[in-house]
This record gives sequence, C-alpha cells and structure tokens, in this order.
Amino acid sequence: MNSQKILVCAAWPYVNGDIHIGHLAGYFIPADIFTRFCRLKGIDTVFVSGSDCHGTPITVEADKRGITAKELVSEYIPKVHEIIEQYGIDYSLFTSTITDNHKKVTQEVFLNLFKNGYIIKKKSQQYYSESDNKFLPDRYVEGECPFCHAKSQRADQCEVCGRTIGLGELIEPYSKLTKAPVTLKETEHYFINFPKLENSIKEYVLNHENAWKDWVFKETIGFINEGLQERAITRDLDWGVEIPINELPEDQRIEFADSKRFYVWFDAVIGYLSATIEYCNSKNLDYKDYWNNKDCQHYYFMGQDNLTFHTIFWPGQLIGQNLDYNLPYFPSIVKFLNANGQKLSKSRGNIIDAKQVANHFGADAIRFYITSILPENKEGNWDWTDFKNTINAELVGNIGNFIHRVLTFYKNKLNAEKFEAKLDPAVETKINETFAMVSDLLEKNQFVAALNEVKKFSTYGNQYFDYNKPWEKLKLAPEEANSIILNCLQIVNSLRILLYPFIPEASHRLSNTLGLTNLNPTEGTNQFQFVSLPLTSISITEELVPLFKKLEETDIEAFTTPA
Ligand code: MF3
Ligand code: ZN
Repeated sequence: MNSQKILVCAAWPYVNGDIHIGHLAGYFIPADIFTRFCRLKGIDTVFVSGSDCHGTPITVEADKRGITAKELVSEYIPKVHEIIEQYGIDYSLFTSTITDNHKKVTQEVFLNLFKNGYIIKKKSQQYYSESDNKFLPDRYVEGECPFCHAKSQRADQCEVCGRTIGLGELIEPYSKLTKAPVTLKETEHYFINFPKLENSIKEYVLNHENAWKDWVFKETIGFINEGLQERAITRDLDWGVEIPINELPEDQRIEFADSKRFYVWFDAVIGYLSATIEYCNSKNLDYKDYWNNKDCQHYYFMGQDNLTFHTIFWPGQLIGQNLDYNLPYFPSIVKFLNANGQKLSKSRGNIIDAKQVANHFGADAIRFYITSILPENKEGNWDWTDFKNTINAELVGNIGNFIHRVLTFYKNKLNAEKFEAKLDPAVETKINETFAMVSDLLEKNQFVAALNEVKKFSTYGNQYFDYNKPWEKLKLAPEEANSIILNCLQIVNSLRILLYPFIPEASHRLSNTLGLTNLNPTEGTNQFQFVSLPLTSISITEELVPLFKKLEETDIEAFTTPA
C-alpha cells in the first residue's frame, strides 16, 4: 500500500427501517475491516458515511405510517447510531443528509455543474393527481400491466411478468395513496448532460480495468457502452435539498422550482464530499488533503444495486465540476446476501435484524460469520446451521481453543518459573508470511480469503502445540517446554493483531487477558506485523475464560423455528 492517505466511503443507509444483515455485509463490516486494517498499518484513514434521509424510500414509508418524513428520519437516525456502536464500526464521522452543511455542499456541486455547462433543463411527462393537486413519483403509481394485464403493478415494472413498463404505458394508472386516477402532465426539471461527460467517464473507467473486480468493471463498461442518457436530478417533491434557483440566471430557471427538490441519488453521493468537509472542519483539517491530494485513495463500499451510482454517475458529478477532485479508486462492491436460501425481504418476513442477532450472539460472532460468507463475487447465503457450525468449528474450536489451551498451559505451568526460551525460526517465518499474505489480501479487499488465512494460521498453531507436546517436556526438559509455549504465545499475540480488523472486541479482550495494552492505531507506525514478545512480558492474573462461547442447537432455535 503506497498511498499516504485513504478515504473510506461506505454507502449511506436509508433511514426508513431497521438495519439488517444485508447492510452489514454490503458495507458496514467490510468497510470497517478495511479501515481498521489501514489504520493499524499507520495510514491516515478517514472513514465517512451517514444516514440517507431523502427520496421516495423515506416519504413512502412516512406516508404509510401517517407521520412526516422528518419524524421518520428522526426516529431511525439514532437507531443506526446504536448499530454502529454495537458493532464497533469505526467511523471518523457518521452524519446525515439533513445537515445545513450537506445542503450547502449539494447546492454548490449543482452550481459548479451548471457553470461548466453540464446541466440542462427539460420538460417531460409525469404522473399527476388532479385530486391531490400534485405530481406523483413512479413509486406512488400503480395500474394494470400493459403486457400480462396483472392488476396493481408498479408504474415502472411488472412484478408478475417482469417487463419494464414505459412512462404512460400503464393501464388505468392510479395513486397508491388515495386510489384516485392519475394522468400524465408536463413538468420541468434539471438534467445532468451525461452524454457530454461520457468520454471522460469512460476514460476513467478504462484506466481502472485491471484494478477493479472483473464483474464490477464489466458491468460498468457494459452500461457505458449502451450510451449514457441525460438524467433528471430534480423531482416534484417537497422533501429533499432545495434547488438554489435564485443563483441561476432567470432564463435558466425551471418553473415551480419551489415545489421541486434534488433527486435523492444526486444528493446522497455528494454526502461523501460533504461528510469529509464536515469532519475536517470539526478537526481543523483541510478536506482538500483528502479530495485533491493525489496520494489519497478513495475506497467505496456498497451492495451491487448501488454500482452504477458510484462507478458512473458519481464520477460524472465529480468530473463535471472541474475541481480536480479524486475519483473513486476502488469500488468495493459485493453481491446480494440472502438468508435461508431466499432474498432478504421485509414484506416477506425474511429479514435478519442486526441489533437482535448482536444482542443474542455478540457482535464479533456476527462479524466473523458475515466475513466468512461475504458475497464478494457471487450471491451469498446466511444459513443458521452453517452459522452455528462456522462459529463452533472456527471461532470456538480452532481460534478460541488454540488461544485458551496455550494460555491455560502458560498460566498453570509456567507462570511462576520461567526458563530461557528460544524463538523457532520456522514459527517466525510462518508468522511473517501470514502477515504478508493477510495484508496483501486486505489491500485487495479480498476479505473472505484474508480471514481464511487467519483461520489457517490458527490451525497451524494447534498443530504446532499438538506435535510438540509441551506437557510431556515439562519435567525432563523444562527449557524446551518454555520454548514451545513462547512460540505459541507469539502465534497468540499475532492472532490478537490479525483479528483486530475482523473482530476488534475479541482482540481487546485478548489484550486484557495477556496484560497488554489494547492495540491503538498510530499514524506513521505499522503495527500490522510481527512483534516478538519476551516470555516475561506476559502475565496472566485473571481467571481464564474462553474467548468465545460454543453454540448449542437451542441457541439458534428461536431464529430457525417460524414464529
Ligand atoms: N441509501 C442507498 C441505499 O440504501 C445508498 C446510498 S449510498 C450513497 O441503497 F451514499 F451514495 F448515497
Ligand atoms: Zn406484467
């Protein structure tokens, strides 16, 4: 890793419901592993995100519950913060899109794009409800599918036959809210001229062909090769960032701008910039050190449904400003995580709630399992039996067991009497190799493989202990027993460091047990490497309890038997 600084950007969750394992796997956990790893390497790493408060996902839910959008987001924002706390997600700043700073930055980005000639205004047709006296977003309109004639289908796509439905094609469209009929009516909006940005965006993407994951590159370039269209960035809606209409020349103002707002995807991605600015302002730092400094690489974490917004539209919004901002360096995108073999779905009740499972099993167990099944290149599946088996075999049986048997032996047999002990060069090599391998995989954001190397390293520790049988050497060759345990302790201490990005809480507990200070990332100091501990530096005074708890069938029963 040769960059001086890293900006980690995790997708912004809509605050219209509870956080579930899809959010955890999509970005919270991988982004946090990467951030913790970079920081332990000594790299200055800023990690930002926030609550995505605008758009129809918010207003639809608020309408459904009969409360205002503002009330809805005020209810859910604190809940996201609880999850972040519970899972130890180490954000520099987790803000939201309803701050004054975000509004200001969003408006500035729009004005920059406008000034550079990338904004056009255009009239188009949109569903309108005469009785409600307002334009309705597609999500609010239902009707009969023009192809298979299924009733109550969404305006843009039929759930029954799967066909895309064009504007105006829906038969007898009506408002989902009031059931009143709707008609098409002309409305004026701002659009980003993506055809004009297409060449620059394409050049940027082609430059990253070899660095990005194959499927991410292919999906992006495939989309661009179909030709980019102008995209509307405003909506007929009263919830969102206001258009700075008075800053524009009169002949460039759209009509009825007061009843329009920026489209949620226009403002949400700007959050990465506005959040960095907010963070830097609060710390007396210069955000340009992150956004204009070419030695700062930007990593973006998200699920696959967010891909084009981050690899095409957001880069376009950045390029069009002509401010020499850094473009996404690595889009760290994962596929969908399913549960019990089915798509995660709130309406079908197939959801695994993040708070509930952490309360039940501890955040580390969830972090560990999710990392083990992270859908990096194909869809993944959370399976409860597999969850129990993975925790029991790997976290408890392999890692926890190794650490516990070494520490128990050390405490009971060697604590008092210490002899000279020697580091085995083979063990030292193994440790160094493991750090190098895990480091390389984490740099490439290959989290599953990285965790696998850690698991293999613990297996090696167990084999080393078994093979060398320290209990047999105690009486006849105490020096040898001491050396074996010294080597095992180096492996334990290395695990403490290696596990820190993945399961930080367990790493802290292990530090306490060993009588060491917690790992504390320091800029400029690489701590993600082997440090040799003298035998005398370890003193175990507390009673030893295994780091992880074995799961019984009864532990998962509540989750596997339908309510
Ligand atoms: N709220 C969006 C979603 O849940 C993600 C937004 S990511 C952003 O799909 F930062 F670009 F906004
Ligand atoms: Zn249909």
